[in-house]
Amino acid sequence: METKTIRVDPRNPEPTTIAEAASLLQHGEVVAFPTETVYGLGARAFDTAAVAKIFKAKERPVDNPLIVHIADTDDLSTLIRDIPESAQELIETFWPGPLSLVLPKHPTLPSITTGGLDTVVVRFPAHPVAQELIRATGQPIAAPSANTSGKVSPTTAAHVAADLHGKIPLILDAGTIEYGLESTVVDCTTTPPVILRPGSITKEVLHAVLPDIGTADTTQPHRSPGMKYRHYSPAAPVILFTGEPDATAHAIETYVTKHHNETVAILWHSGGTRRPTFAKQLPAASERAAPRLFAALRALDELRPAAILVQGYSTTGLGAAIMNRLEKAASNIIVCN
Ligand code: TXA
Ligand code: MG
Repeated sequence: METKTIRVDPRNPEPTTIAEAASLLQHGEVVAFPTETVYGLGARAFDTAAVAKIFKAKERPVDNPLIVHIADTDDLSTLIRDIPESAQELIETFWPGPLSLVLPKHPTLPSITTGGLDTVVVRFPAHPVAQELIRATGQPIAAPSANTSGKVSPTTAAHVAADLHGKIPLILDAGTIEYGLESTVVDCTTTPPVILRPGSITKEVLHAVLPDIGTADTTQPHRSPGMKYRHYSPAAPVILFTGEPDATAHAIETYVTKHHNETVAILWHSGGTRRPTFAKQLPAASERAAPRLFAALRALDELRPAAILVQGYSTTGLGAAIMNRLEKAASNIIVCN
């Protein structure tokens, strides 16, 4: 299949471009499009055959359900049975935005979209291109991140093409994505609601709205089906160093000295890390590092190193989301003190 990439203005998407993408979706095709978190691979949520194409293009396990995207809260009534009170408050505060909610699924929504579950994850993205595309298509759009299953989520159109070129007909290229980490996922079908996947809307911020909100026990992977799969992984093994910056910087330096005959890559942010040829520095502040994390991992991975050593962040604020992704990517975690 030929893959076409069209540039689109992220703030004022060209109506002809949106119409072309919407027409593909209306004819049962898949389209990669930008959201404010990462690029998504969309199909109409009620089109069983089109949703199947998402799973095929991504090589995604069929029991890993998709997020359904809407551009108007009125569309919720077609997707869910009722709105729990906790969800109502989160919707009023954070939509449109990078927050996805697990809600009770409407019986008419095809089970392929939700991996056979009786719940559905819904999100109202803030990105103008995503909103215009959903409106022009006239139906909610199911969309996981637009990467090969298990790989790092795409934050540029080039990342999407690297994984899906030849497998999908269209990529809408709106440049580099603002947040660069996937949305926060909150399960509102339980009391109290629980954070299943940390993201840009942090635990601290959610707490202010719902003081009793909980955090998922990661030893119970069945709560979020996707969590049991290895995720966000470069091809090279990722070795994650956790602890205070001084300790992790020192441990990375020791590792490099010991493995001097291997080409290791380093993703670091602070301290006196010895830098081999393959090194990238991220900002020390997690808020500024988050948007650049996935692109940096992809860039280092392209150099085909023997391993990628990553200096961890503290788990406050956006650091929780960063560390969640890094822990899933890591084949080895070294605790430093
Ligand atoms: O920012 C995002 O959320 C991006 C953009 C494109 O919207 N999408 C995204 O989708 O990250 P995906 O499929 O890569 O991640 C969705 C996560 C998976 O871990 C999946 O298992 C979980 O949400 N999920 C989906 N439906 C669920 C459900 N009914 N119950 C629990 N977890 C669910
Ligand atoms: Mg994904």
